[in-house]
Amino acid sequence: MTWQAHWVSQTSGFADATRILEVGAGGFETSVYLARRFPEKEFVGLDFTLSPLALKTLGNGPSNLTVVKHDARNMRIFAEGYFDFIFSVAVMEHIAELADHLEETARILRKDGLYCFWQAPFWSCSKGHHFRHDAPDCPIPPYSHLHLTQSEMREQLIERGIAPDEAGDIAEFIYARGDLSRLGRSQTRAIIEDSPFEIAQWEDQDDDRYNPEGVSRVMARNLYGLPENDLRFKGAKVRLVCTKS
Ligand SMILES: C[S@@+](CC[C@H](N)C(=O)[O-])C[C@H]1O[C@@H](n2cnc3c(N)ncnc32)[C@H](O)[C@@H]1O
Repeated sequence: MTWQAHWVSQTSGFADATRILEVGAGGFETSVYLARRFPEKEFVGLDFTLSPLALKTLGNGPSNLTVVKHDARNMRIFAEGYFDFIFSVAVMEHIAELADHLEETARILRKDGLYCFWQAPFWSCSKGHHFRHDAPDCPIPPYSHLHLTQSEMREQLIERGIAPDEAGDIAEFIYARGDLSRLGRSQTRAIIEDSPFEIAQWEDQDDDRYNPEGVSRVMARNLYGLPENDLRFKGAKVRLVCTKS
């Protein structure tokens, strides 16, 4: 079992759900596991790319899992109120159009349906730039994406010995890649509070690379107007209840 499947299946509301959607299913291991483990439930796994791993995993997939190649920012393919439980893991940080996504998710959930997600890293944490953020040889200094502009980042990478073209590509990835959210934790929460959902649970996850010196550098040139407290957290586990009438 994947840890994602363990988390989802233990989440309050999953046991009673009958129609379940995974958004951004990636390799589909979680959807496949859950569909096999809970044959009485109907599962849909959605992603806008089907990776070789996904195709391999799905090769002999269970019959109660439907795979959909589609963009989560527009889920018009599903009928209003169809699902009673939607979840995603490590996907919300890729969705810049958060308000639209939440509207769309609420549309396809029944009233009082649940949207549960685990989001990390927020743009506002030490490694929120997303460029090889978990690699030990990541060339981006912690927090630097929060106090350098794109051209300054490129210059800094060149000073660190990276070839100009590559430095330009990395800076472009960090600041301009389309499928990356540059919302901080508080901005994310404020948009959710203004959406057709009520926050039933919000569990912050500490940034284990938190560094007061790095935070001081950000606060001295706070390009994104981030509250200092946002920099303590790398992600959150969230459970939302759909409040539409
Ligand atoms: C970091 S991976 C996480 C995969 C999987 N949920 C897991 O836990 O391993 C993010 C996934 O979200 C998908 N994704 C990102 N933005 C998306 C969008 N707008 N619509 C559909 N899928 C999206 C990516 O293709 C990728 O498979």
